[in-house]
This record gives sequence, structure tokens and C-alpha cells, in this order.
Amino acid sequence: MITATTIEEVRNVIKKWKAEGLTVGLVPTMGALHEGHASLVEAAVAGCDRAVASVFVNPTQFGEGEDLDSYPRDFARDCEVLEAKGCDMVFHPAVEEMYPDGYGTYVNLESEMTKQLCGKSRPGHFRGVCTVVSKLFNIVTPDRAYFGEKDAQQLAVIRRMVKDMNYGIEIVGCPTVREADGLARSSRNSYLNEEERAAAVVLYRSISRAKEMLAAFGAPSAEDPADAGALKAAMTEIVSSEPLARIDYIEAVDGETLLPKERLVSGDLVAMAVYIGKTRLIDNFTI
Ligand code: PAF
Repeated sequence: MITATTIEEVRNVIKKWKAEGLTVGLVPTMGALHEGHASLVEAAVAGCDRAVASVFVNPTQFGEGEDLDSYPRDFARDCEVLEAKGCDMVFHPAVEEMYPDGYGTYVNLESEMTKQLCGKSRPGHFRGVCTVVSKLFNIVTPDRAYFGEKDAQQLAVIRRMVKDMNYGIEIVGCPTVREADGLARSSRNSYLNEEERAAAVVLYRSISRAKEMLAAFGAPSAEDPADAGALKAAMTEIVSSEPLARIDYIEAVDGETLLPKERLVSGDLVAMAVYIGKTRLIDNFTI
């Protein structure tokens, strides 16, 4: 696996690959790689001739008081994971490589979709994500880019940005990878102590309950949509029964625009953010 720390190194390798007619897949990450990331790399390796992963804890997507400094970093281990999955190149730039002195250009999706869900409690987060992902797209010029469905809002925002900015890159969403008890894999799970880790399963329990309710209703359709209020109430009751949990939001939204909806049909999204102790976890499912 090639390790590149500069944009120039990446460009030289990509130029060579493209001259050989090879397709390139990109997996953008912030490192602290887990099974979820590994599944994205697997998909990139399977779907493209060459797979590139970026490992960069992007400061512009963290708000004041968030966990930029404490975010887990272990590049040596990340390389082992990437190499084992057959990744061809890892791009691991310093902050100054991505945001040199005088840096001043940001990509901001201004529609309502970045103001919903996580956008409410993390203002500026998606501006940072869109900016760094745009830069990575321009540096790597991939044919396809792979993102986890666990970050459902991020995935929808990136799809919109790619459409708006005519990137011509296929965005591939990959299913959430879960622990044995259902907790969605996340780099932030490492913040949880033993008691919090046990409590964190409440997110998945609430999702499972909502899915059971949906299964009992039968498949929702335009004539017979599912009632968002009933699903949210059942999920809220389960999460609230866990003393270590504090709900940031449990919302039902249109799967594409992310605007709130009361009557849900196939493709809509039920998403949640819950603090377990000080750790903010997210999860979701699609109707
Ligand atoms: O999902 C993440 O880890 C990050 O938001 C991303 C897409 C790598 C951008 O920094």
C-alpha cells in the first residue's frame, strides 16, 4: 500500500493509474478505523480497479467544545486495517497540507437539509464536511466514493452536493455495520466506559421496536403511510427508560430532502442522536 502525505504524491499516483485506464474508488475517513470503515474499503476494492482511503481528522467539521483534540488517532493500526482489506493507497495529510496559511474557501450546502437533524446541534458541521470532501474529490478525482449509511444525513448532503456541483462521481452508500448486540460501529464508541457501553444498546433497541411496529402495520404506501408520531413516541419511551441516555433528537424525515414528515413511506428516514454520558451517538433506519 502506498502511503501519501502530500497532494502532489496522490496526484502523481492517480495520473499513472488513469493513464493505464484504471478506475479509482475513494473511501474518506477520519481514521480510528473499525469494521464499518473496513466494509467501505471492501466495497471500493470490489467495485474499482484501485482503492484509495484518506485518513484525516478534519478540523473544519468540529464545532467549539467538540472532540477534535480527543478524537481517537492511531495511524499505524489504520494502515494495518487498510492493507488487510487490499487498499492500494492511503492519503494521510497534515492539517497544513489541506488548510495552508491563507486558506479561505468553503463549500456550504445552503438548503434546509443541513439545518435538520445533526445540523441543529452541530451548526457548521456539514460546511466542514462538504469542504473537505470536495477537496478530497478534487485531489483524488475518484470514479466512485464510498460512505456509510450510519451517517445518513452526511450521505444525503454529499449526494446533493455532488449533484449541485456536477462532480460526476458515483456516491455509494454502504450498510451500517453493527456490534453483536446491535450497537452501530463508530469510532466514538471508544469513549464509552463499560456501563455506558451497555446502556448504548438502547439506540438499537428503539430502532428494533420501531421496525417491529412497521412490520405489524404492513409495508407503508402512499395510500397507507406509517405514522411518524407513533414510531417516534415508542422510540422516545425506550430511550428515555435508560438513565444514562439523553435524547438530542429522534426525527422522521424525507430520505432525500431530510425535511420532517408525519406520514412515512418507503425511502423515508428515521434518525436519532442520543448522548450516552458525554458521548453523542447517532443511528437510523430507512423505511
Ligand atoms: O464520516 C467521516 O468520517 C467524515 O465526516 C468524512 C466524510 C471523512 C469527512 O471528514
